[in-house]
Amino acid sequence: MKKMISTAVTALTIVTGLFAQEVQTPKWAAETPEQKKERMAWWQEDRFGMFIHWGLYAVPARHEWVQNYEQIAPDVYREKYFNVFNPDLYDPKAWAAQAKAAGMKYVVLTARHHEGFSLWDTQYSDFKAPNTPAKRDLVKPFVEAVRAEGLKVGFYFSLIDWHHPDFTIDRVHPLRNDQAAIAQNSQKDMGRFRQFLKNQLTELLTNYGKIDLLFFDFSYPGENGKGHEDWDSEGLLELVRKLQPGILVNDRLDLPDKPWGWDYVTPEQFMPKAWPERNGVRVPWETCQTFSGSWGYHRDENTWKSPNQLIAMLIEVVSKGGNLLLNVGPTARGNFDDRATERLDAIGQWMKYNSRAIYGCTAAPEKFEKPDNCLLTYNPTTNRLYVHLLQWPFKTLYLPNYRGKVKYAQFLHDGSEIRYTSRSSAEAGGHTTVTAGENDLIVDLPVVKPRIEIPVIELFLE
Ligand code: GLC
Repeated sequence: MKKMISTAVTALTIVTGLFAQEVQTPKWAAETPEQKKERMAWWQEDRFGMFIHWGLYAVPARHEWVQNYEQIAPDVYREKYFNVFNPDLYDPKAWAAQAKAAGMKYVVLTARHHEGFSLWDTQYSDFKAPNTPAKRDLVKPFVEAVRAEGLKVGFYFSLIDWHHPDFTIDRVHPLRNDQAAIAQNSQKDMGRFRQFLKNQLTELLTNYGKIDLLFFDFSYPGENGKGHEDWDSEGLLELVRKLQPGILVNDRLDLPDKPWGWDYVTPEQFMPKAWPERNGVRVPWETCQTFSGSWGYHRDENTWKSPNQLIAMLIEVVSKGGNLLLNVGPTARGNFDDRATERLDAIGQWMKYNSRAIYGCTAAPEKFEKPDNCLLTYNPTTNRLYVHLLQWPFKTLYLPNYRGKVKYAQFLHDGSEIRYTSRSSAEAGGHTTVTAGENDLIVDLPVVKPRIEIPVIELFLE
């Protein structure tokens, strides 16, 4: 018995020891919950950002993974596309102005994607924009333009690099089926590659002023994959925090169990059913989405979402407490494709009148049930609830159990009063009198939908 107890105690000590080790926060990452809240405040308020995927892959224009999909060797890829990359229409001021007009508050640019091509004048690779016909650092004017519009600046930085000579061939590498290339793995030195990542990050986080957000991409641990040990994720994060103490960092470093290893989670290309949780607790989240099915410019991809779908997506994300990072893939000449511009304009038109239902908003308190065909967002500071009407009803909108909770109602787009009553069947007049549950509000709406893609009712709450 004694032995059993002592074994149990030893086991427990090991387990608690492990646990303590796991949750132990390194000194450089120490931060109080208040400090973290403060650091993330702008992002929680802003809710809406622009992602920009731009690199050599804009030239083939068949998806930013074209090198992988078509299993193109790095030298062939470089030979073909490097010397024709000539973005003569590149005007980052126009990009920033379009992001701002769409209501976006931060812009995140792919400084280097998986193909390994750097948009800036890095000292650690010659596979970079200044050595193409572009002949210059493309990141610097981007950062300046975005800042000049009063928007926050973010960098996407690929952990993967299909061009770097020390990056071993793994299961997602373009040369994954090339036996001769795989045989060379033993001569590669991932230690050197880890140092390369640190060197490049140091450039990006020292030479361009304050950087507000860093989007690492991505880890795929397991067989023939790569994870935190391959990148030295802890070392990278320590470096990032040292160089830019206020920066926000996403969750793709493969440090899921370290509470200090990420600031927010990043569901991609799908709509979460509800506010994402980790260990039963709601966490900050941002979904990144494309206009069509590709991140990089894809000439022949035709599954472009409609403005209505995109606006509804933004609303739904905020209604679940999250952020939306919506992507544009500029062309090889450096401008936004017409199809992207059209959608940005439509979103901007909606945001011009309805952004109050987005900025500073989050999920509605649970006591407010979603009316039919609607989404709800809520601003806790102003105590206003926003009812987004995805489908225009006929004359009447029923707000279930809202009686006694609302002081005033108006359309958000024009500030016009919306009248409402409560009337249960018990008090019904004739057969043309609208009735509802005793605690419901009956909202009178015009028969014709206002000329707004998704109309919003603003409720001033008690
Ligand atoms: C992915 C893809 C990629 C894209 C990114 C955006 O993980 O590899 O091409 O950049 O998601 O989140």
